[in-house]
Amino acid sequence: MRVIIAENAADVASYGAQQCIRQLQSKPESVLGLATGSTPIALYLRLIESYHRGEISFAGVRTFNLDEYIGIDASHPQSYRRFMQEHLFNHIDVDPENTHVPLGMSDPEEESRQYEAKIRSAGGIDLQILGVGRNGHIGFNEPTSSLGSRTRVKTLAPDTIRDNSRFFSQDEEQPHLAITMGIGTIMEARQIILLAAGESKADAVRALVEGPMTAMQPASVLQMHPEALVIVDKAAAGKLELVEYYQWVQQETLRLQGAYC
Ligand code: GLP
Repeated sequence: MRVIIAENAADVASYGAQQCIRQLQSKPESVLGLATGSTPIALYLRLIESYHRGEISFAGVRTFNLDEYIGIDASHPQSYRRFMQEHLFNHIDVDPENTHVPLGMSDPEEESRQYEAKIRSAGGIDLQILGVGRNGHIGFNEPTSSLGSRTRVKTLAPDTIRDNSRFFSQDEEQPHLAITMGIGTIMEARQIILLAAGESKADAVRALVEGPMTAMQPASVLQMHPEALVIVDKAAAGKLELVEYYQWVQQETLRLQGAYC
């Protein structure tokens, strides 16, 4: 696992976007795993800007989102499909047929099986973007989710429902169930980038980077991934023990890159 400590949330997004841009330039037919939540919004904005500058195209890209609420349809303002349309898909040249967000309205068990099959037939995910919940969840894999789980229906933890209630109006019914890629599914991505910003994520970041690997902190499974990059700002890195080491590695990586350029 490589840990990058950026100055602030804007730099987290820029660094994450650089990795995605590099991926798309080296493989224009990439399969991307995408996340929702407030954290990746600035990264998507940078990708849109890069697309408008003509640096990247999404014409050959296929995307798979991590999760979707059950019980609200795609046009609902809080659906993750709508989120993705508004924050990314409507602004780039991706073929709408190639964008996948689980459908939370029909038969969720069957949808989960089909979603897995679609990821497989796309050849698997090249680059997966992740955020992290304050309780350490990735996608909607809440604490105690099996580390080998596949795409399935999950009941959201009360903390997660509370954290995400800011997006729903008071008189609106907030879903308690979601379809989420499983942890085993996420771990099959060839490369994973997890982004976190802000002091509220400091405990989750500490647990995922330096804690024991445990289903109580689902994101800690990334310790087992050979190509996991964790990009955090100084506030989210606030409880890490080995900050100086991560910064040293960062400097050394830049120095070595300079030497080989
Ligand atoms: C939701 C999503 C996660 C996301 C998390 C954190 O629960 N299912 O994929 O990582 O929120 O969101 P935020 O970036 O808004 O803190």
